[in-house]
Amino acid sequence: MSKKILVAYYSHSGNTRTIAGLIHKITDSDLFEILPKQPYPENYNQCVEQAKREINSGYKPELQNGVSNIGAYDIVFAGSPNWWSTLAPPVVTFLSSYDFAGKTVIPFCTHGGGGKGRCLADVEKLTPKSNHLEGFVISGNRAGNSADNSAGNSAGNSAQPEIKTWLQKIKIIN
Ligand SMILES: Cc1cc2nc3c(=O)[nH]c(=O)nc-3n(C[C@H](O)[C@H](O)[C@H](O)COP(=O)(O)O)c2cc1C
Repeated sequence: MSKKILVAYYSHSGNTRTIAGLIHKITDSDLFEILPKQPYPENYNQCVEQAKREINSGYKPELQNGVSNIGAYDIVFAGSPNWWSTLAPPVVTFLSSYDFAGKTVIPFCTHGGGGKGRCLADVEKLTPKSNHLEGFVISGNRAGNSADNSAGNSAGNSAQPEIKTWLQKIKIIN
């Protein structure tokens, strides 16, 4: 029987959404966008300040939405932008809201030059009873949302081969 896969992610400016969309496209999976009840400010500096306060205090923002049938999934990809070297708070809320025991959880993140920080490790910490496979890390501007995508490629094309190689390595696809 084939395994049921969920790709869950939070994205503020679209990079992580692009990567989630590619994982979804390559695998036979469902896609779930984690949405905080109160969206973060669009203004970058305001968002950075709010995120700093929330992360420092361990605040878990309420979410707008949920996954009603989480029990049905065998494999859950969990994606976040790197915010202050860790997960964006909505992803923490998401991972804290369900029982992932016995599932395979696979983290991925996008970043602004600082690499994965603690993002992948924090997904593992929040899902201690899950099996974990090697995560995927990519710079946000390689996710295809950026000015350097001047060749007019559709979003994320440049990341697609890398994502395929990773998914083959962790044996999610052949
Ligand atoms: C609140 C906030 C904090 C951030 N902190 C970091 C950081 O510590 N290290 C880093 O490399 N990038 C940092 N970034 C950049 C994002 O990780 C990067 O732009 C990411 O690709 C954004 O993903 P998104 O488009 O899915 O929101 C931060 C961005 C924001 C908005």
